[in-house]
Amino acid sequence: MNKKIGITEVVLRDGNQSLLSTRLKLEDIIPIASKLDDIGYSSIESWGGAIFDSCVRYLDEDPWERLREFKKAMPKTKQQMLLRGQNLVGYKHYSDEIVSKFIEKSVLNGIDIFRIFDALNDLRNIKHSVEIVKKNGKHAQGTIAYTISPVHTLQTWVDLAKEIEDLDCNSLCIKDMSGILSPEFAYNLISKLKKEISIPVHLHTHATTGMSNLTNMRAVEAGVDNIDTSISSMSMGYGHSATETMIYLLNEKNIDVDINLNDLLKISEYFKTIRDKYKEFEGSMKGVDLQMLINQVPGGMLSNLETQLKNLGKEELLDDVVSEIYEVRKDVGFVPLVTPASQIIGAQALSNILNERYETLSIEIIDLILGYYGKLPGEINTNLFKKALEQKNNITERPADLLKEKFEDFKENLKQYCNKLKIKDLSNIEENILTFILIPYGSEKIFKRMSS
Ligand code: CO
Repeated sequence: MNKKIGITEVVLRDGNQSLLSTRLKLEDIIPIASKLDDIGYSSIESWGGAIFDSCVRYLDEDPWERLREFKKAMPKTKQQMLLRGQNLVGYKHYSDEIVSKFIEKSVLNGIDIFRIFDALNDLRNIKHSVEIVKKNGKHAQGTIAYTISPVHTLQTWVDLAKEIEDLDCNSLCIKDMSGILSPEFAYNLISKLKKEISIPVHLHTHATTGMSNLTNMRAVEAGVDNIDTSISSMSMGYGHSATETMIYLLNEKNIDVDINLNDLLKISEYFKTIRDKYKEFEGSMKGVDLQMLINQVPGGMLSNLETQLKNLGKEELLDDVVSEIYEVRKDVGFVPLVTPASQIIGAQALSNILNERYETLSIEIIDLILGYYGKLPGEINTNLFKKALEQKNNITERPADLLKEKFEDFKENLKQYCNKLKIKDLSNIEENILTFILIPYGSEKIFKRMSS
């Protein structure tokens, strides 16, 4: 018998995010939660990423309440979240004190495994999160945000993985958010990693380019310890390999996954019905899109851009914007296209197409160019760098070292905000303060509801 492979079910977070723009409501998840809990997944990714934002802005849900409900409904299975390091679940850096508080509260409300990444793969931006997760007795998974570019080689990833192990992470994740990790590269990389590092290696890949089943299988052959899948009726497209498919393929190779294929049928049936209710949030992609192999644009980013262009009545510009994303990415040193860099680059590319190239620079891209998000992987376009420098100075230190914001100050701010909204004071609950910090202007609706 070959070694056992862990299966992380991602339908509640990334499946939901990649296929339904993160709109799945808690009430549509709870009825199936106990069945998910019975399967025997190594973990269920259920929180973090865009979930927090979507709960507050679109679903009128308290994200903390969602997490507590998940924990209650799935007591046997480890709950996993995606954490953007120093960005938490937001789009900018927060001070170390706020990062600590957020992680502490995530642990108390139910998270067991923290998958922690930084969009730039600048490990200075995940170091503090890793320390705090470990201090709270939980599993810290250090993450490589995989990309393809002239400045990223196999050795880049091996070196990064070693540094992640040196940070004392419990495991490593190769995060391929756009489905561009090819089977052979995955095999070579993971074979090498299994020789060079001793912590477990997890693979997270997407089905977008059609390679994911093969990539996952080659990863297994190379010795990967855990793969991410999504229940079949919420799989493929911008999403992930189907859980059932992967289990079938693994069974055939006599690899133990400890999951019964038949148990998954009811879950798949359930999500099939539910998915129908969320039709309007689905992207237009059908089948497979090889565009990603050329431009490395992740699915979530494409569906966002589609929606934005639709709202502007300029759907026909999508291809232009996608090509422009490549140009902008090159000009800022080939950062991986993952949140928040993907939003920053996407917005700049859109602006470059609607106006003249770099006629206007967003505050965010100026910060990205000048080091406020961390160190960029490659060279920055000199003219662009000069243009950004006209706005402010660049920095080379760890960005969060400049941030002195205090948790206590936000408590006072929230108190005043509640006063202004003429609702009862919600600042006595620390989770509310964190929600207020992360989504300052989006939280009015849920706060009003919570106070009534
Ligand atoms: Co993903």
